[in-house]
Amino acid sequence: MHALEDLDVAGKVVIVRVDFNVPLADDESGNRIITDPGRIEAALPTLDYLRDQGARVLLIAHLGRPKGSVDPSLSLAPVAEALSQYLGTVVDLAADIDQARTLLERVSPGEMVLLENIRFDPRETSKDPLERAALAGELAELGDIYVSDGFGVVHREQASVTDIARLLPSAAGRLVQRESEVFGSLLGDPARPYVVVLGGSKVSDKLSVIGNLIPRVDRLLIGGGMAFTFLAAQGYSVGDSLLESDQIPVVEGFLEQAERRGIEVALPVDVVVADRFAADAQVRVVPAVAIPDGWMGLDIGPATAKRYAERIAAAGTVVWNGPMGVFEMTPFASGTRTVAEAMAAAPGMTVVGGGDSAAAIRTLGIEESAIDHISTGGGASLEFLEGKELPGLTVLEDSA
Ligand code: 3PG
Repeated sequence: MHALEDLDVAGKVVIVRVDFNVPLADDESGNRIITDPGRIEAALPTLDYLRDQGARVLLIAHLGRPKGSVDPSLSLAPVAEALSQYLGTVVDLAADIDQARTLLERVSPGEMVLLENIRFDPRETSKDPLERAALAGELAELGDIYVSDGFGVVHREQASVTDIARLLPSAAGRLVQRESEVFGSLLGDPARPYVVVLGGSKVSDKLSVIGNLIPRVDRLLIGGGMAFTFLAAQGYSVGDSLLESDQIPVVEGFLEQAERRGIEVALPVDVVVADRFAADAQVRVVPAVAIPDGWMGLDIGPATAKRYAERIAAAGTVVWNGPMGVFEMTPFASGTRTVAEAMAAAPGMTVVGGGDSAAAIRTLGIEESAIDHISTGGGASLEFLEGKELPGLTVLEDSA
């Protein structure tokens, strides 16, 4: 895999695939605002390097899943604006490939153009390799070199991620390089004990990662909505908590496998329950084995959070993916906060993966620099941990 320094980018047009799939919300005046610019900030080292080298840059990115047609609510306009502020220079948004070509002819070395949401073109995500190749060909004609720096999409076989890399001299940007190194080291020989904290709502999203982690880790700490399927698999009633009953047999299999291997799978011992899914609901802390009917678990309880924090403190390596509760609502944020603070204080190697846990670190005001690595990849970081081949990385390894 080439690094940026391996390619002579000065004076060239460099096409950079970034992941600017950032969360947006409407402010009081109805303007779209970026609520977590982490992914934009993570691209800056590569962009600064290319600027210093005098490259002209075309940025390609997606936002959401517009299903191949133009959806104004998923325009990258707010991103172009934010990027202009970060870079201190105007980054024009090109509505389409033709406009990108015209703008690129006009920009000076060191300047950038952002192409509108690439997923407005149905060929980007097409399952038909010929359709993807046609789009990749049109994109490749705009530039001389391709840089892959959208780690969050390297698990996708898509025109601007994989097909284009086969058409131009290609390199990994700083972010993709760093993320690959960190996740590669986790799959290799992590310092022990190796502890993985898994949360988030659905166990079905994490099945393959759990299956792949059991042989590798020393401890799995389970929180979030998915914990209730584990508790149900142990025979406990979970009231109105989130439950994926169809996954119970799979989860039972994980628990048996972990026991055979002597791996600790830690489950909540207490739970914050509410009488409805609302920030002003009635709230109680109950033992995890005694969740009352009609109540739903929305966070791990304080005793669980303390146990998890102790295990995080004792870890040689700790990876955290997925919140412990509905941290966006204050009454259910404590478990996620305790885990985030324990991560920040832990002496071992600490990695936060997944959009939601990374967002939790930032929105709960945890010092980001206290974590060794906060990944920009949600699905990509999980698939890396699953040991799956990531097509966006493989294509870079194959690049001449
Ligand atoms: C992400 O948010 O994980 C990436 O931007 C990939 O988005 P996708 O799951 O829509 O491909």
